Amino acid sequence: MESLKRTKIRDLIQSEEWGKEVTAKGWVRTKRESKNVVFITLNDGSTIHNLQVVLDAEVIREEVISRIHSGAALSVTGEIVRSLGAGQNMELKAHEVEILGEANPDEYPLQPKKHSLEFLREIAHLRFRTSTFGAITRVRHSMIFAIHKFFNDKGFYNIHTPIITASDAEGAGEMFRVTILDPVNPPRKEDGAVDYSHDFFGRPTNLTVSGQLEAELAALSMSDVYTFGPTFRAENSNTSRHLAEFWMIEPEMAFYDIHDNMDLAEEMLKFLVQYALDHCRDDLEFLSKRQQEEERQKKVEDRSPMELREKLMFVLDNAFERITYTEAIDVLQNSPYNRKNRFQFPVNRWGIDLQSEHERYLVEKHYRTPVIITDYPKQIKAFYMKVNDDDRTVRALDVLFPQIGEIIGGSQREERLDVLLRRMKEMNIPEKEMWWYLETRKFGTVPHSGFGLGFERLMLFITGMGNIRDVIPFPRTPQNAEF
Ligand code: 4AD
Ligand code: MG
Repeated sequence: MESLKRTKIRDLIQSEEWGKEVTAKGWVRTKRESKNVVFITLNDGSTIHNLQVVLDAEVIREEVISRIHSGAALSVTGEIVRSLGAGQNMELKAHEVEILGEANPDEYPLQPKKHSLEFLREIAHLRFRTSTFGAITRVRHSMIFAIHKFFNDKGFYNIHTPIITASDAEGAGEMFRVTILDPVNPPRKEDGAVDYSHDFFGRPTNLTVSGQLEAELAALSMSDVYTFGPTFRAENSNTSRHLAEFWMIEPEMAFYDIHDNMDLAEEMLKFLVQYALDHCRDDLEFLSKRQQEEERQKKVEDRSPMELREKLMFVLDNAFERITYTEAIDVLQNSPYNRKNRFQFPVNRWGIDLQSEHERYLVEKHYRTPVIITDYPKQIKAFYMKVNDDDRTVRALDVLFPQIGEIIGGSQREERLDVLLRRMKEMNIPEKEMWWYLETRKFGTVPHSGFGLGFERLMLFITGMGNIRDVIPFPRTPQNAEF
């Protein structure tokens, strides 16, 4: 029999074309045997829902049935019939089963039971085959698509900024070196230092920490642009919110001041949350149930007060609170938390950098809405941020979310050449290598602004997952670059 064109399971499970002959292909999740029939659940990644396949021992040979186990790949041709079982409306009554790829049950590591997320990280090559990672993968795709849609609809242009760069955009020195020099015996200068003039680019180069500086060049001609690229940071932060390789969305807008910048950040985040609610309903429902189960395992005081959809609605329904750093320090310093020493890092003076525990306190306990903090001390922010008239603070902005803390960091940019040069000197940013950046301030400089949204931080929020290693397929973290 000539095989039919395959139909994706997402379309099949919605089909009510009773009696129609179709072909489904996918991977076996479970196999359950009762008297004369065998029930298989099949998934092909197109939906969180599995297709129930019914194998009648009188139709499908026992030899074939016995070789079907969890993880095997099948092509099943059969008839769409109404299902009497609970949980699904339809099932596929198989006429013909072809085993495309077997999976030995003694070796296949995914059993039809709940595995821990830690264990699944060790088998990241197979974790796509779990319901949880299928859902995350589909939501991730939807969010990528929504980000491009948001900016495209607003007339922004997507810019590809370089991944290999000679500059340190954030000035934090946390970069991965890119080199072809022999690590054992590199060419050296007379004073013994490595001679990078022999390296591929004739100079030291790194993986980028941000596409912002190049996005600024584009914005000062195209008006509204955005980048969406991989970003690399060699900071040794082994937390549930840091990756060494993550994806960042960086819009950059000419003629925007910090208020326009905040409006755009809030509008974008609300658009993305709404998009997820509208387009990822089944996956979010699954992730929400999953999270509720996890919450029940926790101690009462550690439980999250909000269910996933509730948390998403919380962002949609509330205007983001906009406060200055100085106001934030005031609130934190006088908070009952601080007075009772419940912060790991006590808030004792103006000028300290905020920790995620402080950010979450402001969002979750004090304001009970997402918060945008502006006007940070210049000492703790990057060289390119516009200096305020007080000469102590810069026009920085951080957007803080429940559960995450900082989800966006950005600023109005310093467009005055003399002030920018002074800041670069103060912060030891090499002026000579940045000549091209400085020329934008020489030729037709204008007020402009931008920000960076950490894509995996957004994914943590949308999916309700607790660890950033679980919202990117192949996480890169200290001591971990498997797969
Ligand atoms: O605050 P950051 O460092 O800002 C910049 O890089 C600016 N150049 C952005 C701009 O103005 N165009 O990073 C921006 C965001 C953070 O708010 C956070 O969401 C995310 O990037 N981020 C990380 N995400 C995962 N792992 C890390 N190690 C991250 N570091 C920053
Ligand atoms: Mg930041």
